Amino acid sequence: KYMGIIFDLDGVLCITDRYHYQAWKRIADTLKIEFNEAKNHRLRGVSRMESLDIILENYDKPLSVEEKIALAEEKNRYYREFLETMSESDIEDAVFATLDELRVRRYLLAIGSSSKNAGFILEKTGLIKYFDAISDGNGLNKSKPDPEVFLRAADDLRLAPEKCLVVEDAAAGIMAALAGGFDSAGIGDGTAVPGVTYRLERFEELLEVV
Ligand code: G6P
Ligand code: MG
Repeated sequence: KYMGIIFDLDGVLCITDRYHYQAWKRIADTLKIEFNEAKNHRLRGVSRMESLDIILENYDKPLSVEEKIALAEEKNRYYREFLETMSESDIEDAVFATLDELRVRRYLLAIGSSSKNAGFILEKTGLIKYFDAISDGNGLNKSKPDPEVFLRAADDLRLAPEKCLVVEDAAAGIMAALAGGFDSAGIGDGTAVPGVTYRLERFEELLEVV
């Protein structure tokens, strides 16, 4: 049925949640604003600048665009320090095994991630070799739930959206898949979104639905 599979990165192939959390927490602490795990959850699938806006929701002092950019850059410097420590051991064996099998079955594989650090993470973890196309947060005009990042991935694979399956953990990502005319496989939070095509309890169940 499908010829290509487009994967979200954070929360699907690797877990970077706690790194995002710790990096944003340092920014929130400097500004003396409340930031907790529940709020961190809302940042899934959301771009860096939109994440900052969520963190600044209850901040009463007005910030200029330049100040916001500086804060986002500072967060990214902290975040990159964590990413520097990543290696193959941060990826579950089941992820490598599943991707190996998908390659054996001759699927085209792409990344569809809002992250500007996707390339760096893929290099550090040894995941990069699996992918025929990488569509990430660089040069992206509209983030999820807009379908742009997935449409660009499908285009890079030279496949129509109907020929691709999107694998996502975030609600915004499942909505982006729906908006772009893609079938979707939800993991974690992604399973609860109305309209999701398949609900996966474990990543390797992907092999049963393609
Ligand atoms: C992914 C994560 C989000 C993150 C976004 C931007 O979608 O799920 O939590 O905010 O990427 O990441 P970046 O690496 O560009 O700051
Ligand atoms: Mg995700």
